[in-house]
Amino acid sequence: MKFFIDTANLEQIAIANDLGVLDGVTTNPSLMAKEGISGEEAVRKHYRAICDLVDGDVSAEVIATDYENIVKEGLVLAELHENIVVKVPMIKDGIKAIRYFSEQGIRTNCTLVFSAGQALLAAKAGATYVSPFVGRLDDISTDGLSLIEDIRTIYDNYGYETQILAASIRHNMHIIECAKIGADVMTGPLSAILGLLKHPLTDKGLEQFLADHAKAAAAAQVV
Ligand code: G3P
Repeated sequence: MKFFIDTANLEQIAIANDLGVLDGVTTNPSLMAKEGISGEEAVRKHYRAICDLVDGDVSAEVIATDYENIVKEGLVLAELHENIVVKVPMIKDGIKAIRYFSEQGIRTNCTLVFSAGQALLAAKAGATYVSPFVGRLDDISTDGLSLIEDIRTIYDNYGYETQILAASIRHNMHIIECAKIGADVMTGPLSAILGLLKHPLTDKGLEQFLADHAKAAAAAQVV
């Protein structure tokens, strides 16, 4: 399973990257705005900075919602760095643009996916990644994880190569459940990735190992 971090915060990206388990980064316009990044040039500069930090796919989202401008914007983003994946919303013109990018050999991430039908369309259009939003479905009392299961079944039935990028991951249990289902990638906050480290028995066991070691070292000194 590939691990992407879902943020535009360079410090958090660096922490996840230093851990040695990071395969890529996803961003969206809200995450860029949260970092105070606005204006075309600043946004492009920020994407380049992320690509310099991480050796992996970096999803950069288009703002346009009509076919011509999605294509125009996506071509500029794809030129920024070889690791850029053009993130396109799941709308009619977005699907057409994904087909265009796919024919040009430009990789895409179809975002804002909330149903199996949308995921099927994204795969047929040739998307590299499809991003079903697990947490946002949970937020409205529907089962985000069952959507991941449905997409896995559909893609496996037909051998679609589009990778399931479980997005809107909120915590470590989401990651574990998505891994059990067979999502190809998960993207989540740093807290969810670091959450995987934690187990009280690990802390208790380590404390005991270190105490026993110190006791044995002290005894050896006495002799
Ligand atoms: O980047 C898309 C997705 O991961 C958003 O997550 O937490 O805003 O629902 P969230």
